[in-house]
Amino acid sequence: MSEKQVFNPNPEFSKNARIKNMDEYNALQNKAMNDYEGFWGDFAKEKIDWIEPFTNTLDESNFPFVKWFEGGKLNVSTQCIDRHLDTRKNKAAIIFEGDRGDVQTITYLDLYKNVNRFANLLKEDFGVKKGNRVVIYMPMIPEAAYAMLACARIGAIHSIVFGGFSSEALKDRIIDAEAKVVITADGAFRKTKPYMLKPVVDAALEGETPVEKVLVVERNNEDVTWVAGRDYSYNELIKDKSAVCEAQVMDAEDPLFLLYTSGSTGKPKGVQHNSAGYILWAQMTMEWVFDVKENDTYWCTADVGWITGHTYIVYGPLAMGATTVMFEGVITYPDAGRPWAMVENHRINQFYTAPTAIRVLHKMGEDAPAKYDLSSLKVLGTVGEPIDPPAWKWYYEEVGSSKCAIVDTYWQTETGGHVVSPLPGATPIKPACATLSLPGIMGEILDPETGVKVGVGESGYMCITRPWPSMIRGVWGDEERFVKSYFGDVKKDGKPVYFTGDGANYDNDGYITITGRTDDVINVSGHRMGTAEVEAAIKKHSNVAEVAVVGKPHELKGEGIFAYVVLKSDDGVADEVEEVKIINNIIKKEIGNIALCDDMVFAPGLPKTRSGKIMRRILRSIAKGEKITQDISTLEDPSVVEKINSMVNK
Ligand code: WT7
Repeated sequence: MSEKQVFNPNPEFSKNARIKNMDEYNALQNKAMNDYEGFWGDFAKEKIDWIEPFTNTLDESNFPFVKWFEGGKLNVSTQCIDRHLDTRKNKAAIIFEGDRGDVQTITYLDLYKNVNRFANLLKEDFGVKKGNRVVIYMPMIPEAAYAMLACARIGAIHSIVFGGFSSEALKDRIIDAEAKVVITADGAFRKTKPYMLKPVVDAALEGETPVEKVLVVERNNEDVTWVAGRDYSYNELIKDKSAVCEAQVMDAEDPLFLLYTSGSTGKPKGVQHNSAGYILWAQMTMEWVFDVKENDTYWCTADVGWITGHTYIVYGPLAMGATTVMFEGVITYPDAGRPWAMVENHRINQFYTAPTAIRVLHKMGEDAPAKYDLSSLKVLGTVGEPIDPPAWKWYYEEVGSSKCAIVDTYWQTETGGHVVSPLPGATPIKPACATLSLPGIMGEILDPETGVKVGVGESGYMCITRPWPSMIRGVWGDEERFVKSYFGDVKKDGKPVYFTGDGANYDNDGYITITGRTDDVINVSGHRMGTAEVEAAIKKHSNVAEVAVVGKPHELKGEGIFAYVVLKSDDGVADEVEEVKIINNIIKKEIGNIALCDDMVFAPGLPKTRSGKIMRRILRSIAKGEKITQDISTLEDPSVVEKINSMVNK
């Protein structure tokens, strides 16, 4: 194995870091190993503003249905807002920068008022009660954060659907969650032009749905259709609402939100996160991994439609009382200097983005960082996929002037917060390596057959062998799927453990490198896309007989989507370009632009076993242009492999 170069933490930074060196890291991790409940119980007491203290730290008797901090009562919105008012009333909670450069600073006091008004609106005008589901389909504007926190304040369960998803995808999620309210906006701005969301909501609500009311934030003031008795203007209703709304007292394990994510099979699952455990780890990882200080300004470029936006734009930063930047626009607009201009203008200290964004910024503006004053930066983060060494090098040297720590944070929608990541003041970093499990997280790479920890350099399954506070609590409406999806693959000492779906290996120092999904999930620009979902969309085309979708390495996106389509008509395709367009339009309608295919071949058939199973491994090899090493003699029709291969790799 090649030994990677090691970068030690900047000693100046370490001096004041929350975790200063590896001895402190080891002491924390040892405490967690020796006294797991003590470790978590102490932090929960220290970090959370409990309305009533918890009586039991962890109940695993009904694993994987675990309970953390039983008996404890809290409210996540007071954890994020009210408790800061004494000391941080006039501190910026959110700095919003719009697409067109408009900036708005929202103090903790402003946030308190805006969230309370929003909560009163939902309660009084829409009759939203504790436990009701509210779908949020919003652009990146402060009202999206208010909506989340307003739901938390009254105990409603929000389910955010990323604004790039289509009406069909939105409808599926609305129906699965049985949401009675949708919060949206007329639209927002993208590259200074209006883009619309409300028409997508209108289309999603055609036919039978559980939705009674729609709240529309008027952001771009474009004309939209208003359905009488269903659609209401936020800007109108909010005017007369009281800025005081008593927070609903919530049990530690009351659900906080659902977030739908793709799995290897079937429709997206509603990942459920509950109140206390989630907010505890969101806050602790903010403090440890980004080491945000009182006067720092922190920016995560994600969208609130993904888990990164939930935990590291809204909940984590606000729970710790930080200043979080929210950005409506596109990071490459008007040019690839936009993020660096924002770092300079807002004096940003921690910057968190995805490798795909780094690759694009690198490609489009290699020299752009040098044109701005980036001296405020201390910690640079990445998330969503493995970062490749050239991107890492540029990020480290050009953006971070070789003095910032790069935290390659590994986690998932289901983990709620980071699970494997360097600590910026303590962990010696190796490029493109997520390094070590965070204190309290029992991450282990196991052999899927034996459940034994793999040796150095061997590949295994990335597992977490004890439940942690921000662990997924359920798949909405489907207990069996929850158990099967996450606890069905790997057993350690005969007992099921949480399996992430990722492969990984250890190096000589015990550092963890994540190698990618072991299942049929594709990682497109750091977002999960299930092959089954894309295939289901393509199958809606009446002329499609069969389809198989695989991931293929992509220069900018990490992975791109490669579809093998078998058409019903035998005489081939008259106009391939036209056919690709038709199919991509269907995907756009069923899922959204993020699932568009990068490559599509019209194949004469698919490689299948005699029992009819599609051999995706062969299709992946063909897509990559690799030599086929698999045994194809047992296939139903081995000749199809050569036929497809000669079409793809001419
Ligand atoms: C999947 C989770 C976590 C928020 C964004 C994506 C991949 C995530 C890393 C990383 C290598 C990574 C994994 C994981 N992934 N971070 N630092 N290095 N791979 O959340 O949509 O739930 O996707 O993203 O494959 O399972 P998600």
